[in-house]
Order: sequence, then structure tokens, then C-alpha cells
Amino acid sequence: MNINIAIIGVGNAASAFIQGIYYYSNGMDKDGLTYKTLAGYRVSDVKVVAAIDISKDKIGKDLSEAIFSGSNEAAKIIDVPNLGVKVEMGKPLDGVFEETEKLYQTSSEPCTDIVNLLKTTETELVLCLLPSSADKAVKFYAERAIEAGVGFINATPTKLATDKDWVAKFENAGVPLVGDDLQDQIGSTILHKLILQEMEHRGVKIVESYALDVGGGPESLNTIYRARGLKRDIKSQSIKSALKNDAEIVAGTSDYVPHLGNSRNTLLWIVGKHFNGQKIVIDMKIQSVDGANGGAILMDIVRACKVALIREEKGAIMPISAYGFKNPPGGTKNPDEAKTLLADFILGHI
Ligand SMILES: NC(=O)c1ccc[n+]([C@@H]2O[C@H](COP(=O)([O-])OP(=O)(O)OC[C@H]3O[C@@H](n4cnc5c(N)ncnc54)[C@H](O)[C@@H]3O)[C@@H](O)[C@H]2O)c1
Repeated sequence: MNINIAIIGVGNAASAFIQGIYYYSNGMDKDGLTYKTLAGYRVSDVKVVAAIDISKDKIGKDLSEAIFSGSNEAAKIIDVPNLGVKVEMGKPLDGVFEETEKLYQTSSEPCTDIVNLLKTTETELVLCLLPSSADKAVKFYAERAIEAGVGFINATPTKLATDKDWVAKFENAGVPLVGDDLQDQIGSTILHKLILQEMEHRGVKIVESYALDVGGGPESLNTIYRARGLKRDIKSQSIKSALKNDAEIVAGTSDYVPHLGNSRNTLLWIVGKHFNGQKIVIDMKIQSVDGANGGAILMDIVRACKVALIREEKGAIMPISAYGFKNPPGGTKNPDEAKTLLADFILGHI
């Protein structure tokens, strides 16, 4: 029943995800998961069998230690036992740049034979948790996954599942691809959508809205310097797609605040018109933790991808992508529709 995954990018999202495997496997708590079992799979069925990074603080360490090393600031919630999985050196390419180099330095070790690593560890799925805008690196690892004949989960905003040439490559290799840009469990994008939708359902005309966030950690730094425009487009478009009527919507990251660590503060502002043309204003602040917000959805995506592997599904898997990502192939679906699509996929109806 194991689901063997390789993690590329042992950063904050990886730390929360791996800690989550042991947190839920120990039965410490059952709250916080969207699905305790999905298609019969429990969280304890997820096994990380290989890991790749480039940071000199992580290479050569056991994964259980590497997740608390270097630029990782995701909270330590549990002691992870020694996993016997050594973090192997990848190819830096565009994964580091001037600003993030202040947070983590690249190891001088040569790149490991990634295809061989994926094959010898019997990896079934690669979970790509590289920084935003590391397009060359994401594509390099996607090629290695194709060569090794394993599925690929693209949590980054780099366009793979929404790029027809990449979809064709995975189709030809006979393995599944899901993405792009992970959707948080209960982050600002999904909350923003749900509030706007409910307002529309109740007859309010949405006039304008914004969600501006500030965060700490390397990913916020990276977003500010390299992926601000791309992330802004994906988030704004994802929110607009939830609305029946056109409205002025802006959503994105507006600054890097180092002392926030792995957390993020979002200012949400909504202006609508309701009964008798009267104005309604919602002014909210959301405080969230990035790693935790990615973990629950990643657990669902990994288990749903195992179903795709068993069914020998290949190329972009739309229902999983629509459920778990902000920029899925075929366009963003509203949250209820996306959940139904995932359920129909698991049941084998689509
Ligand atoms: N809630 C979430 O955590 C969330 C939500 C949406 C999207 N995402 C996406 O997930 C990704 C990871 O986020 P994070 O917060 O863990 O980032 P992070 O910066 O904490 O971790 C990135 C890791 O990748 C490593 N890395 C950089 N270049 C590499 C290369 N070429 N090869 C191998 N490793 C390399 C870094 O050393 C670091 O350990 C980002 O693309 C982010 O946009 C996360």
C-alpha cells in the first residue's frame, strides 16, 4: 500500500509535509486533514524514499535532520525518526539567485544521477517543491522524471501541466502530471474565492477587491524578486474565475518581511453593492502558516496521484489538478466543482 515519493526541494513546504506524515501516522491528532483516508490510502502509506536539494546545509544529511536545517523555518512540531534517506545533490540552475543566496548557499558537490536514484529507490512520484521562478530547474527534474518513467507533481508556478508540449511529453512517457502552483488548504486565495462567491450567491454585486500579503522565508523573497508578476496573475485570475460577474480584482505578494518566518499576513479588502444600491465593505486580515497550508492538500494530491498511477492514467490529470492547484489545465474551477471532480475521479466516474 506504500506510495513512494521523491521530494525535489527540501524547503519549508517539504518540512511541514514530512512532519505531517509522522504527526498523523502516530495518531497524535486526527484534525487538520481534508481526507483521513483517500481512495483507501492513509497518510501513513506515504513514504519519502528519495530527496534532492542544492543547499550545503542539507546535502548529505538524513532527511529527518535536513528538514530542520538551513533556511527552513517551518515550525518543528514532531521529532521525525531517522529515515535512512540521504539528501542528494541536484542541479542548481536557476534555483538560487543573488537575494536567496544570502539565505542558502549552494553545495559544491556534483549532481547525483537522478534517473538512477529514482529507479533504485522505486520512486513512483516526484513531488517538485522548488522555488517559484526556478523554471529551468523544474523542467530539468521533469525531464528526469520522464526518463525514469515516474509521475510528477508540480507545486511551483512554472507552467508544465498547463503547457501542451509538456503534457504531450508526459503522455508519451505514459505517466501522470499534475499542477501548476499548489492551492493552499485554507489560504487567502481559497478564502477570498469563498467569501466573494457567497456574497454573489446572496445577491451582492462585487465592485472591487484586493488581497495583498506579506510573508517571510525564502519563498516570499523569491516571489518578490522573481515571481511577483506571475504569482499576481495566477492568484488574481484564480479568484476572478470564481465570480459570475466581472469585478476589479488584484491578489498578490507585496513584500518580504524576514521576521515573519514561515508565516504570512494577508489584507483582504472587498467592496460590494447590495440592497438599494448600498455599499458593503469587508476589511479582514488573515494570518496563516505556509508549510501547514500546503501540507494537507499535498497529502490529498499524492494519494490521488497513486490512483492515477494504478489506472495507468497519463499526461495532465485534470480532476486532481483542478482540486489541488491554482492554475490547473482546463482553467480554474470553483471550489465545490473542484471537490466534486476529485471525488468523481477517485470513484472512477471520470
Ligand atoms: N503553502 C505552501 O507552502 C505553498 C503554496 C503554494 C505554492 N507553493 C510552492 O511550493 C514551492 C516550495 O515552497 P517552499 O516554501 O518550500 O520554498 P523554500 O524556498 O522553503 O524551499 C525550496 C527548496 O528548494 C531548494 N532548491 C533550490 N533550487 C534547487 C535546485 N535547483 N535543485 C534542488 N533543490 C533546489 C532550496 O535549497 C530549498 O530547500 C514554491 O514553488 C511555492 O510557490 C507552496
